[in-house]
Amino acid sequence: METLHDLLASRNVEPELHQMLLTLADCATEISALVRGGALAGVLGATESENVQGETQKKLDVIANDLIKRKLAAQPLVKALASEEEDHVVASHDSGRFLISFDPLDGSSNIDINSLVGTIFSVLPAQQGVVSEAAFMQPGENQLAACYMLYGPATVMALTTGQGTWMFTLDPTSDEFVLVNPAVKVPQQTAEFAINMSNQRFWQPAMQGYIEELLQGKAGTRGKDFNMRWIAAMVGDVHRVLSRGGIFAYPTDTKDPAKPFKLRLMYEANPMAFLVEQSGGLASTGYERIMAIQPDHIHQRVAVILGSRREVEHCLQHHG
Ligand code: F6P
Repeated sequence: METLHDLLASRNVEPELHQMLLTLADCATEISALVRGGALAGVLGATESENVQGETQKKLDVIANDLIKRKLAAQPLVKALASEEEDHVVASHDSGRFLISFDPLDGSSNIDINSLVGTIFSVLPAQQGVVSEAAFMQPGENQLAACYMLYGPATVMALTTGQGTWMFTLDPTSDEFVLVNPAVKVPQQTAEFAINMSNQRFWQPAMQGYIEELLQGKAGTRGKDFNMRWIAAMVGDVHRVLSRGGIFAYPTDTKDPAKPFKLRLMYEANPMAFLVEQSGGLASTGYERIMAIQPDHIHQRVAVILGSRREVEHCLQHHG
């Protein structure tokens, strides 16, 4: 039985990053317990407030955000944090080495229906000097680590520090994350896609054309039938992609002209892109590699197409 700590030590992850990752795992262990308690833990339902993105905050969004803020404030390695639920960057320890951006509870619309939710973290290097939002404006390529924790029938964690992707399961008897897959590999080919089909009429022609080919199945140019899945929590959909392959997309749409993209670069797209690339998959906006994007603000949103290499390539061919 190899724990997260054993694995990080055996892969020579540098001691401070190792410590940082144990703190992130600790946050997830506590959130996992709250999620398991459900209505009994008093965590279901909505609050009266909205986040900076204009979305109604669920109680568990706020509870998870506060819990992570509290844990990170007690970790001197953290220089500052950026959360999907915070309007601004929160400064922490001046001498801290890491900038942490996170989505405390991804897929919050699933909370009240007892379906999949998770937490996503991205770790960036901090520069010396006063911390500001500008310090976070680093492309995903700069990430030192990325992970998600998925609170499903089991609590699992996928983690990368750039040496491949590792998968862990939280052992409920010891509260330790135990290694279950030391080298996650996303199959190159797939016959499974994940996209919110209800937005179909709002997509650009490139995505319309690609999905149309998949829907034609055996009779069409792709010559095979495809299956569709949509969990409505990126952590759940990406976990399926890492587990058995697939393509996941949240493309540009014109549903709300003021909001052409849904997913956030710093809290969702970059960490997931790092995990997928480290598992042999691809992650693109349709026009550029997600991890190459130079961010211009912490709550920036982007189009996301990720998953099995060959399938993402098919999709990208439609984008020219
Ligand atoms: O953070 C946004 C998110 O909840 C993702 O986790 C998920 O993939 C997506 O939104 C679901 O979107 P929709 O509401 O269109 O199904």
